[in-house]
Amino acid sequence: MSLACFIADCGGIQNVTRVLIPDDDLVFEVRDIDLVTGTPPSMDDVDGQTCVGIDRALGQVRYKKPATLTSADLLAVGKQIANQQRGMAQTREVATECEFRPQWHVAPPQGLLNDPNGFVFHNGQYHLFYQWSPYSCEHKDKYWAHLVSKDMLDWQGQPIALTPSDWFDSHGVFSGHAVSHGDELMLFYTGNTRIGEQRDRHTTQCLAVSADGVSFDKKGPVVATLPPQVTPHCRDPKVFYHNNEWFMLLGAQREDLQGRLAVYKSNNLHDWVYHGLYGEEMGNFGYMWECPDMFQLNGRWVALIGPQGIASTSPHHTVPHHNGYVDVELSDEQGITFSGFKNLDHGFDFYAPQTLATPDGRRVLVGWMGLPDEINQPSIDNGWIHQLTGLRELTYQDERLIQRPLQELKSMRSPVEVFELNHSSRDLGTKSFELQVELEWGSEFALFKDSHHELKIVLDADTRTLLLDRSQTLIREGDQVRDLSLSSSTVTLQILADSSSVEIFINDGEYVMTSRVFTPLNATSITLSGCATFSFWRLALPKLNSASSNQEGCE
Ligand code: FRU
Repeated sequence: MSLACFIADCGGIQNVTRVLIPDDDLVFEVRDIDLVTGTPPSMDDVDGQTCVGIDRALGQVRYKKPATLTSADLLAVGKQIANQQRGMAQTREVATECEFRPQWHVAPPQGLLNDPNGFVFHNGQYHLFYQWSPYSCEHKDKYWAHLVSKDMLDWQGQPIALTPSDWFDSHGVFSGHAVSHGDELMLFYTGNTRIGEQRDRHTTQCLAVSADGVSFDKKGPVVATLPPQVTPHCRDPKVFYHNNEWFMLLGAQREDLQGRLAVYKSNNLHDWVYHGLYGEEMGNFGYMWECPDMFQLNGRWVALIGPQGIASTSPHHTVPHHNGYVDVELSDEQGITFSGFKNLDHGFDFYAPQTLATPDGRRVLVGWMGLPDEINQPSIDNGWIHQLTGLRELTYQDERLIQRPLQELKSMRSPVEVFELNHSSRDLGTKSFELQVELEWGSEFALFKDSHHELKIVLDADTRTLLLDRSQTLIREGDQVRDLSLSSSTVTLQILADSSSVEIFINDGEYVMTSRVFTPLNATSITLSGCATFSFWRLALPKLNSASSNQEGCE
């Protein structure tokens, strides 16, 4: 059957913003309720169906769902809504001017960015998607923005991959991963919908497939019901192949408000069978686990999870959203068991990472440089918020996960400058740079500095603690200090800075601290109370480097 007559009564497709299927009804949400032409009685008997009513407050027209309605009919309407959404979002794909915009990190042109999604190598190039809220710096009705790159440095924007256009994802195309399967690029994601005045959450795990790596065909839910004893907080599919079968991991909240991982299995990527809920051995470990990833690293299985609601051991750390990794045992008898949670990042802004395997066998991670509840930062004055982290290579050494900047990032370096600071300062003249230094305990180092602002790194010799202090910056909300205990005799820092962020790799990648740092444009100085030799590189994308060296050649 066609939905054309319903849509005509609702004022035409241009007036339809969402289609919802609560229970046995079919609901159209519209932009302008006054454009709805029929009244309930006159809509009786549209294909034998009845218009149940119009809810002016919600802007919704409700019908009994026609028995002959097929999922193909609904997908066809979804495509029309998606076309409209893509057209309307075009104005949001133009980047606003802003002094805080990164030079080489991925940031949204406008609106809010959160999790990286679908990070994968497919048919000769890398794909990276992100959760995008185009219309405001708030978490609303997420899209999947899409970028591709040949070298993991230069990311080129693509048409928006997925919009919240369908009955199964009308309130957000939520996070998920990609699978490169032959010539098909398959995106597994969570469809998020909100039904009725109470905005009841419904989640299903959905699939969209692309033959050309550019446009994606939604297939609808492949996991349409919740696992037993799991609340609708069930999301963020990670799909991987192991022992001749496909696994799907889902972040889940059990009905007793314990975070766990739900696991489904498949042999064809389309039909999924529930396998179990895992993580009981972690005990009381947060009310929800978000954004799982799982992979082998140097012969060990490791899972990344985002437990929400676990306490930090630091009095400075008040954020409930954590992110870290656990060791994993996979066995036919016991299924999946986890042990030994460790934080992945010790800075202020890191969440929801995902990884890919490169063709040359490296495991590369990208995360969200932001946190779920923090949406007031200076960049919102220019209409955008948050960015992705730089890419990191992972290895497993001495019982812990080591993170180092992606090798390719070195090609952004200008020729090195080596200098010493001895209780002195230096103006670097840029906020996009790399610094390497070995500091003694007792040193105090400041960067992104002018007379009123700075980001401070203090090496407290008494407690052997590194303190990262952003209290003298333009930050508008969130914690001000992070602390990290270290046992090394000195502390080596590799700092990658980019306009309004730092990623501090400590002791050759043993720890990382990632933070947004807002200081004025000309806050480009560093000072050291202590004595040390620094290696310094300006950082710019290679194409920008070659543009400037060409210019120099012409002079
Ligand atoms: C994590 C998260 C995911 C969810 C997405 C929605 O930041 O809450 O669990 O899929 O963001 O944007």
